[in-house]
Amino acid sequence: MAAEKLVQADGLLGWVDRRFPLISLYKTHLSEYYAPKNFNFFYFFGSLAMLVLVLQIVTGIFLTMHYKPDASLNAAGIPVAFASVEYIMREVPFGWLIRYMHSTGASAFFVVIYLHMFRGLIYGSYREPRELIWIFGCLIFLCLMAEAFFGYLLPWGQMSYWGAQVIVNLFAAVPFIGPDLAIWIRGDFVVGDATLNRFFAFHVIALPLVLLGLVAAHIIALHEVGSNNPDGVEIKTKKDGNGIPLDGIPFHPYYTVHDIVGFAGFGILFFAVVFFAPELGGYFLEYNNFIPADPLVTPSHIAPVWYFTPYYSMLRAVTDVFMWVMVASAGLGALAFFRMSGNTLVKLAGIGSMVVLAISFRVFDAKFWGVVVMGGAVLVMFVLPWLDKSPVKSIRQRPGWQKWLYGIFVVNFFVLGYLGVLPPTPAGTLVSQIGTVYYFAFFAFMPIWTRMGDYQPVPERVQFQPH
Ligand code: HEM
Repeated sequence: MAAEKLVQADGLLGWVDRRFPLISLYKTHLSEYYAPKNFNFFYFFGSLAMLVLVLQIVTGIFLTMHYKPDASLNAAGIPVAFASVEYIMREVPFGWLIRYMHSTGASAFFVVIYLHMFRGLIYGSYREPRELIWIFGCLIFLCLMAEAFFGYLLPWGQMSYWGAQVIVNLFAAVPFIGPDLAIWIRGDFVVGDATLNRFFAFHVIALPLVLLGLVAAHIIALHEVGSNNPDGVEIKTKKDGNGIPLDGIPFHPYYTVHDIVGFAGFGILFFAVVFFAPELGGYFLEYNNFIPADPLVTPSHIAPVWYFTPYYSMLRAVTDVFMWVMVASAGLGALAFFRMSGNTLVKLAGIGSMVVLAISFRVFDAKFWGVVVMGGAVLVMFVLPWLDKSPVKSIRQRPGWQKWLYGIFVVNFFVLGYLGVLPPTPAGTLVSQIGTVYYFAFFAFMPIWTRMGDYQPVPERVQFQPH
């Protein structure tokens, strides 16, 4: 229906619109939101992330109707929480479907989000004026990790229990307040009923609320500045006589219909997993988690779910030797820099900071620095908009060798992820140390390497061939 007709609408719609800006919201965000006409495959993942978010909330509500966050043992000696999940799987009509949709949805969420973030990375969608969209995105990512972590404790299986134990114990590595902090988070000296109850509260209400608020902020920021596109062309700079971007098309109906294709493709893959391989070889649901939590039996190998393993690898990469190699190389780098600088004050500040760093490396152990590295790997993404100094946004106009840097970054992330699933070995640790160095060097040296090489000019108009 044409928007003008809607404005004059009377009846119920007109009544509502005189009291609530329904038509103007519809226009701003759908029928008159002009999106670049050259969106490609990677632009499916924003709307898919919204779809998965809705799926998780709806299936989550139904699971909550039968799930019990209770660590005490029932008459059969099984923890009530674990038994309630089994009840959902076996007794509740279609409970198995709801549960597998929710567990598969958790992994699907991370597949979709990683691809969504990768798109932002290669097309420079974090660059001005989209810094806030990116920052809201990074906050969403942090929230999502917390949400997945809290959710994983709820079935109260062996991996739920011991995984939570390992991760909460990481907080004990924080200097001075660490051990008390870990007890405060658990609400007990070990992971127990108090932990399960508070994780349940965070998982079902606190974090979903924050997530929804952040997603709203993400979309509002996006619609304020407009979407980027694979060519990195700002479509708002070229408009027709009516002020409509020449390279833009209304989001509705064009992209709403286009996104149905993405939804269908996603649905096929998603339900193939739900119906035929819900554990996906132990990657989506770990086999050890079908055993009830037992505080007296530690599994021989504890690994987080696949979406955390790249960061887990970075945590394990930080050994005593690695720490000292890093301090020594940082020291040598700083020395070379200060030899070049004639300023005595700069030299003194440099030597001072090296001494402080060396002392802190002696005071705090490798576990603490591992936690710092793991946290830093996520936090470094927040400053990405200010690290990239290239004259273009999109990878399409970057020099060929930079495409290799991005390619290696992706392969490296997969390798780290794979190593994080395996038990540690000396060779694996060495590879994850090299991978960790590459990951951080990619970001740390970005202000330098993005200033180098020959860039292609950004095209005047988006490159688009209708089929
Ligand atoms: C629940 C999670 C998320 C949802 C529902 C979501 C949703 C969306 C939607 C619908 C769009 C517009 C369509 C599109 O460009 O694909 C978008 C754009 C964008 N998102 Fe997200 N997003 C989420 C998480 C993230 C994360 C974790 C990041 C990065 C850390 C991020 C960064 C961006 C950027 C930079 C854009 C603009 C892309 C462009 O214009 O090229 N998003 N998001």
